[in-house]
Amino acid sequence: MTPEEFRAAAHELVDWVADYRLGVADRPVQSVLRPGQVRSRMPAHAPAEPQPLAELVTMLNEAVVPGITQTQSPGFYGWFPSNAALASVLGDHVSSGVAALGITWQSAPALTEVEQVVTEWLRELCGLSDAWRGAIQDTASTGTLVALLAARERASGMSIDGGGLQACPAPLVVYSSAHCHSSVEKAVLLAGFGRDNLRHVEVDPVTYALRPESLRAAMAADLAAGRVPAAVVAAIGTTGTTAMDPVREMCVVAAEFGAWVHVDAAMAGSAMLLPECRHLFDGVELADSLVWNPHKWMGTILDCSLLYVRDVDHLVACMSTTPPYLRSQADDDVVQFKDWGIPLGRRFRALKLWFHLHLDGVQAIRQRLRRDLAHAAWLAEAVAAEPGWRVLAPVQLQTVCLRHEPEGLTGAELDRHTLAWADAVNASGKAFVSPSVLDGRWMVRVSIGAEATERADVEALWALLRETALSP
Ligand SMILES: Cc1ncc(COP(=O)(O)O)c(C=O)c1O
Repeated sequence: MTPEEFRAAAHELVDWVADYRLGVADRPVQSVLRPGQVRSRMPAHAPAEPQPLAELVTMLNEAVVPGITQTQSPGFYGWFPSNAALASVLGDHVSSGVAALGITWQSAPALTEVEQVVTEWLRELCGLSDAWRGAIQDTASTGTLVALLAARERASGMSIDGGGLQACPAPLVVYSSAHCHSSVEKAVLLAGFGRDNLRHVEVDPVTYALRPESLRAAMAADLAAGRVPAAVVAAIGTTGTTAMDPVREMCVVAAEFGAWVHVDAAMAGSAMLLPECRHLFDGVELADSLVWNPHKWMGTILDCSLLYVRDVDHLVACMSTTPPYLRSQADDDVVQFKDWGIPLGRRFRALKLWFHLHLDGVQAIRQRLRRDLAHAAWLAEAVAAEPGWRVLAPVQLQTVCLRHEPEGLTGAELDRHTLAWADAVNASGKAFVSPSVLDGRWMVRVSIGAEATERADVEALWALLRETALSP
């Protein structure tokens, strides 16, 4: 494809994307396709000769878009918001177009330096002190893995320089609440700690926040048994209920044992942009690492996760390998992001953050987040006031965990009822919510925060929930 052919096709596709976004509210929110239906529309083999763009557009309309759960729809209340602000889409587009190769500073100085600038902007906007340094990772899962690798190396006295974890005299242990995201368990396993050395610490039965006194007891018991308390993961905004672990107390306890503290604020990190929400992050300055995702609620298109650490020299010591072909004269004077994480090559992801902040502006983003907080507060109040309905966990941000509990319905029967009406809501195509399990019983999470969701949409959702729960 020549640049001129690209220009013509791209104009057409930009119009296509704009039309898609304009019409997204009219599509069923949940994809109704059956497994294999998209595949069956695709050619069995790759085309040998160039094919017309029009064919692709037809496939986009007929097979691809119906095969997407519409996260940009105002009716999307599932999982967590997965916004993709169009300003950031433009940055992503330019990133692909310039196709910078981010393997070292030398390979694309702008890629490194724009990333330094935008991670600094975000640090400042989040109220983190200048003791922190950040880099963009693809996802929070990767950020948490990198953090736990660094924690492992601190606890083991840089075992990687010798026999590695296999030469450690005592097992290293990681602590989190059972409400932490599954990426924490995955990182613990991939970093070689082993499932036996992951402790799920008790939570408060009302707030679902980890109990620091139970953390202390668990760490003391491990120490007494000859194990090494190595790392604590605090969740600010758990996936199930957006519970807020008490970071300050957890950091105090961890410090008694010399353990690393990693904060997973993948979803709730966006709330750090709001000064009135910063109390939820109290004590975060005492932690060692923090990950959060602009690609969730804040709305910079996937993949854009920020990992901040306080001791960047230690991180680099853990992650750095520099073969001769990657060396340059500038090495002593520049940041090499390849040494701040796992991959060598990185995309110019900083562009989508820059475009998002530049074109939308911080105030508009903050205003939208505040709008969503108000929507959630409104919904929680309405649910709490409605006979037969219950809000199941404190509404810390924009997610409301709720259940319809008709009189006399308990146990497995109640579960069947909950799943039936949640499925019916999703099958209606008007809205999408995520059922999940809390304290062993099914409930429904309503995670407000799609960019397009306004108050009227939340009111319509509440009417739909009541109507559906009465006759699923
Ligand atoms: C609290 C929390 N941590 C981590 C993740 C994983 O995020 P990612 O998809 O960026 O790996 C999620 C995803 O929803 C989450 O809610």
